[in-house]
Amino acid sequence: MLTSFVSPSMMCVDYRRFAETLRTFEEAGVELLHVDVMDGVFVKNYTLGTDFCRNLRKMTSIPLDLHLMITEPEWKIPWFDVQPGEWVSVHAEATGHLQRALAAIRSAGGKPVCALNPATPLDVLDYVLDDIDAVLLMTVNPGFAGQKLIPATLRKIADCRRYLDERGGGGIRIETDGNVSFENAVKMRAAGADTFVAGSSSVFRGEDLRSNIEHLRRCVT
Ligand code: DX5
Ligand code: ZN
Repeated sequence: MLTSFVSPSMMCVDYRRFAETLRTFEEAGVELLHVDVMDGVFVKNYTLGTDFCRNLRKMTSIPLDLHLMITEPEWKIPWFDVQPGEWVSVHAEATGHLQRALAAIRSAGGKPVCALNPATPLDVLDYVLDDIDAVLLMTVNPGFAGQKLIPATLRKIADCRRYLDERGGGGIRIETDGNVSFENAVKMRAAGADTFVAGSSSVFRGEDLRSNIEHLRRCVT
């Protein structure tokens, strides 16, 4: 089983404690910082954008995990000034040119990730397995924090792990996003997920971020 990574969701940060929160994440050794980018079209919300990413990079050395919930991402990758080692996920549903989008991420030096909404079948990955380092499985419909897990997505995680392993993709990671509570994280890990987006259901629940991270780590180790 791949070692587990924790990726706190930056849309859930209390801005009054922004710098302090980043220090806590660094001290706790979180592997990634999940940045939700929404364009109001692919999902009915706006969140973080290119300036946020630029400024965040000045404040921390933790690699960003950009989750692009935007239409036609293949043309917009250069806007994000992707840095080596950063993860960038694009939704299969957001483009007719999925391979082009993933290849653009790779050539910008990032780690390409294919994101799938809960109802999207795994076979969209059939011809892009060489183009991805991870799959991001949405465990809620994207757009908003604070939603409830869609139970069928637990089965999808297990199906995805098997699908990848059977096709020589044992090194391709599976990230889960949406209602990754402590309780759900245990189930997701058991199903084969290895990278956990931590939002209002876990790390940002209450005040003590440090102990929440440690709790989440215990759930997924
Ligand atoms: C959207 C976000 C949210 C959120 C996750 O892609 O990544 O899913 O911050 O946290 P929860 O679901 O726990 O609020
Ligand atoms: Zn996300």
